[in-house]
Amino acid sequence: MKIIVYGAKPDELAYFTAWQQSHADRLEIHSEPLNETTVAWAAGFDGVNCLQTTPYAAAVFEQLGRFGIRFLTIRNVGVDNIDLAAAKRFGVRIANVPAYSPSAIAEFAVTTALYLLRRLGETQAPLAAGDWDKAASFLGRELGQSTVGIIGAGRIGQAAIRLFAGFGARVIAYDPHPGHPEPRAEYVSLPALLQEADVVDLHVPGVPANTHLIDAQALASMKQGAILINTARGNLVDTAALLQHLQTGHLGGAGIDTYEYESPALLRYAKTGKFEDPAWDALAKLPNVLLTPHIAYHTETAVQNMVDFSLANLLAFLTKGEAPDEIHIR
Ligand code: NAD
Ligand code: COI
Repeated sequence: MKIIVYGAKPDELAYFTAWQQSHADRLEIHSEPLNETTVAWAAGFDGVNCLQTTPYAAAVFEQLGRFGIRFLTIRNVGVDNIDLAAAKRFGVRIANVPAYSPSAIAEFAVTTALYLLRRLGETQAPLAAGDWDKAASFLGRELGQSTVGIIGAGRIGQAAIRLFAGFGARVIAYDPHPGHPEPRAEYVSLPALLQEADVVDLHVPGVPANTHLIDAQALASMKQGAILINTARGNLVDTAALLQHLQTGHLGGAGIDTYEYESPALLRYAKTGKFEDPAWDALAKLPNVLLTPHIAYHTETAVQNMVDFSLANLLAFLTKGEAPDEIHIR
């Protein structure tokens, strides 16, 4: 079995090596993402395994189809960057890893909430300037005295509910299809959640219907001083409106791990070596904003599971014709 891996990161290599040693299959590992250029390297392989937040475009699937490659497994959860209709059209079946470690992302959301509630970012510039009194002047708020609103109570949202509840926060949640609702949250409507929460924490997929779920109107309805955390997908938040609400002081802070223009900015970064974007740069100037480079998932447990589970999906596709986590495209 010949498998080509794209988007490999240094911290994944040990897991790929271990997998290769316990399987008789050949892995060819590339750090570059799968795109219209690098897809040429897949000729002669049986299956493809990838991790990237840049697009999987129709042209990529057209080429994979020409090579007779029928299976692509991704090492992550979100499929919002994949042209699924094109994949189906060109006969490429896809599986994701729906749960490599929901706790990794939930713990990151809690970390971000604590950082912002205790105003740690605001202490840094005065400390760097030697102004101890100013640095010590930022009065924090306690998570245990706060109401946390979780939007999207799926795998990660439910893990977040449990963690925030463990800190003693009142947790409210909005999800039109919550599955088995986590009992530590009180389920409310979206407008009620936005009005009541001191911390609004997003865990919904970045499907087109959710684009700008948090728009100017939603931001305006949030409490004075509220904090917004987005570790889900960049398109969920209207960044221009968010900037305005931060600059006027209506919002108390924001934690952005998934940034609206991440994908185009990363494509430019691949050419220039610099992650630059006007709205990103404006957010980065605000001391009550925590920007992180899409790392909420990034733990040892998660990375090992991403490699192992995605390769298990690919092996299942190649040997049995079906995989446990296949994305069924309508
Ligand atoms: P999931 O499918 O288990 O849960 C998503 C939940 O959102 C579902 O219960 C669904 O009913 C709900 N939902 C969908 N649209 C909604 C809306 N408009 N309002 C309220 N609820 C809505 O998914 P998950 O495993 O919890 O992952 C959520 C998202 O987290 C992924 O789609 C991915 O984009 C993101 N993610 C980010 C990272 C990271 O490193 N930053 C890592 C993994 C996943
Ligand atoms: C996901 O699993 O969906 C993520 O956002 C992680 C990222 C490395 C793509």
